[in-house]
Amino acid sequence: MESTVKKCRCDLDAELEKVIARHEGKKDDLIEVLYWVQENYGYIPKDVQLIISEKMDIPFSKISGVVTFYHLFSLKPKGKYEISLCRGTACHVRGASRVLERFEKELGIKTHDTTNDNMFSLEVVRCLGACGLAPVVKINKESRVRMKTDLVPGIINELKNAAK
Ligand code: FES
Repeated sequence: MESTVKKCRCDLDAELEKVIARHEGKKDDLIEVLYWVQENYGYIPKDVQLIISEKMDIPFSKISGVVTFYHLFSLKPKGKYEISLCRGTACHVRGASRVLERFEKELGIKTHDTTNDNMFSLEVVRCLGACGLAPVVKINKESRVRMKTDLVPGIINELKNAAK
């Protein structure tokens, strides 16, 4: 069973040192190290990029470039609710773009961003494997199917209320 207890930052930093040590002298392992950071910190903090830069002897600009290039990596902590909207073909054909625009409008953020209260993050993903039920939106681990733009405000309210 997955633990719900979050590790403190100092524990993560100590583990990071070990992860970097395992990849010592292997600059090509940068993505692997960054992936570990994303998984464990929940995003890639700037100071962690600086640590990796120093310890792996990789220019900070290169690390920063990799982090911003891959949407897998985030520069900000993800929100309590990670909203992932499918932009696969079936969902696209059935209006996923309009649903995405509505989420952006209602949340006041763009895709790949997080609301200032850290409540919501918005991402786009490729096929979620439920094409027959398109458009599909995944909110954390739960899928919402046959999405329509006018369902968006209600879903956001529902999530806000559930978080109280
Ligand atoms: S294209 Fe969206 S679930 Fe497959």
